[in-house]
Amino acid sequence: MNVPIKHSADASTVEEALAADNHQGIVDSEAATALAMQNTLLTPRFYTTDFDEMDAIDVSSVREDWDLLIAQMKADPNKGHFKKNETWEKVDWDGMEPKLRAEFIDFLVSSCTAEFSGCVLYKEMKRRGNNEDIVTLFQLMARDEARHAGFINDALREAGIAVNLGFLTQKKKYTYFRPKFIYYATYLSEKIGYARYITIFRHLEAHPEHRFHPIFKWFREWCNDEFSHGEAFALLMKTDPKLTSGMNVLWIKFFLTAVYSTMYVRDHQRPAFHAALGVDPDWYAHEVFTKTSEITKQVFPITLDIDHPRWQRGLVALQRANADLADAKKTGNIVKRLGAMARAGAAFVSLYTIPTVKHQVPASTRLEPVY
Ligand SMILES: [Fe+2]
Ligand SMILES: [Fe+2]
Repeated sequence: MNVPIKHSADASTVEEALAADNHQGIVDSEAATALAMQNTLLTPRFYTTDFDEMDAIDVSSVREDWDLLIAQMKADPNKGHFKKNETWEKVDWDGMEPKLRAEFIDFLVSSCTAEFSGCVLYKEMKRRGNNEDIVTLFQLMARDEARHAGFINDALREAGIAVNLGFLTQKKKYTYFRPKFIYYATYLSEKIGYARYITIFRHLEAHPEHRFHPIFKWFREWCNDEFSHGEAFALLMKTDPKLTSGMNVLWIKFFLTAVYSTMYVRDHQRPAFHAALGVDPDWYAHEVFTKTSEITKQVFPITLDIDHPRWQRGLVALQRANADLADAKKTGNIVKRLGAMARAGAAFVSLYTIPTVKHQVPASTRLEPVY
């Protein structure tokens, strides 16, 4: 008889991870789950796609790199890693400054939702697919995301809350994206996730006095998982050169602009969280964009010109319009709301129309996490 796995960190498959004790017996926190249920432009969404089209991908043109990556993921160096150990210090949630506490919980809930969004999408692809290569990859990625989500829920549970993942799977709205949009969006979210986690990890390595919660100590192995997931999507895109040429380059530019600017706006909503980390959100954004741009040159023929004078101005305008929009929603002021929406739209157009930086894409996408 199989002994049930106690913790998602020790699971070998996504099914085992989701059935583990720390994903069950969940403290159902209504507030956290309600937060995770939100579907706005700025909150993580759940996606669905044309799974048959994705299942039909032939990876033979990238076989060598593919097999290497899959072997690495199967070797599973992070098995057992994503759970508390003796280096996990006690967190004084009650003594935490209320604004920091609220923003940090918001950060954890939104990270948990994003991890779980990946898990649900990858698990569904694995369930529906027949293509051995695709099924294997998505099983491995779903396993990782279930562990990541489980670990964040461990942290949240200490604050007396947790996101009800079963409820989310059933009740959260799913957004349909064609496979190619899934590639662009998911590839970018994996790679920017790597850049975000490693930047915080390196910063806290140099300034441990700002590490106000133990979870940040786990960020290096964590971001290496995300890095591998991004590698997989780079290979998937490499199998079809049309995905990264012609009119699709405009879509790539759109997703780059959307992902970067969403991150900027969202991070600026958490000033106390960034102050506690000792991180200036403008510096952080530029660091993360620089790293992500460098990485995405592995497969995208363009990068955004983040040093263009209109870039920072556009981000600030978008962020202010968004703050005003949130105020107008609260007060029910329709005129102010429409004005803020128009300004947000104009700021996005201004960002999107900055000329891109073009470059030659290498023959092989293969990269190592070097930051
Ligand atoms: Fe993850
Ligand atoms: Fe991931």
